[in-house]
Amino acid sequence: MRIAIAPTQAEGTAIAARVLMERFEQGKALGVATGSTPLGLYDKLREAHAAGEFTLAGSSAYALDEYIGIDADHPQRYRNVLAAELVGEDKTGLKDDDLHTPDGLADSPAQAAADYEQAIAPGVDLQILGIGSDGHIGFNEPGGSLASRTHIGVLTEQTRTDNARFFDNDIDKVPTHCLTQGLATIMSAKKILLLAFGEKKAEAMKQVIEGAVSAFWPGTILQHHPDVTIVLDEAAAAQLQLADYYKTIWESWNK
Ligand code: F6R
Repeated sequence: MRIAIAPTQAEGTAIAARVLMERFEQGKALGVATGSTPLGLYDKLREAHAAGEFTLAGSSAYALDEYIGIDADHPQRYRNVLAAELVGEDKTGLKDDDLHTPDGLADSPAQAAADYEQAIAPGVDLQILGIGSDGHIGFNEPGGSLASRTHIGVLTEQTRTDNARFFDNDIDKVPTHCLTQGLATIMSAKKILLLAFGEKKAEAMKQVIEGAVSAFWPGTILQHHPDVTIVLDEAAAAQLQLADYYKTIWESWNK
């Protein structure tokens, strides 16, 4: 794992943007996360697009997950969130037809999961990830299979509490079920770029980087991926035993 520990979230976001623009092969598929963590990164991609330095025109984008049963026009429907961040000439050049999200409104969510797995099969070049305070990536919550493919997931109470801030701070408005790429689906991406900021992510990041691989901390599966870059701020890195060592390695690679 390549681990960057930045003093602040803003500096971490700038590092993540640089890594993405250097390493994502334009024209290929970009795996995109939702939640608050990657929003600054999407700002940077829009800025770079406006400056003519980066484009998602000709590329496709695949979401990690989608709430089941959320209204088609709900602002927190992940398809709508990602379209608002990325789609259009005034954003990153991504075309709406090239944005793929699991169909959370399908009559058969199980079929929608199978369809999404098939759609993503040609492969993601670079997958952007955030992480839940309980260690989930995508919406793969603790206790799920480390070998899962796209499936119906049940959100934990912790995740619904964490996400209530997007739903008027009312946990009852947070959907209970989702469609999510499985851990094996995520692991099929060629490259992974995981971002984690803030003290609420510190325990999960301790587990992901220094813990044992375990279904209890789903993000730990990334230890088996050959090409992972992790960008943290100091708060998210606070529990790492070898933080100074990771900083030395990162600096030696980026001289
Ligand atoms: C989002 C996703 C989740 C989030 C995680 C962190 O598509 O799959 O794994 O990355 O819940 O969310 P934030 O960034 O809001 O803390």
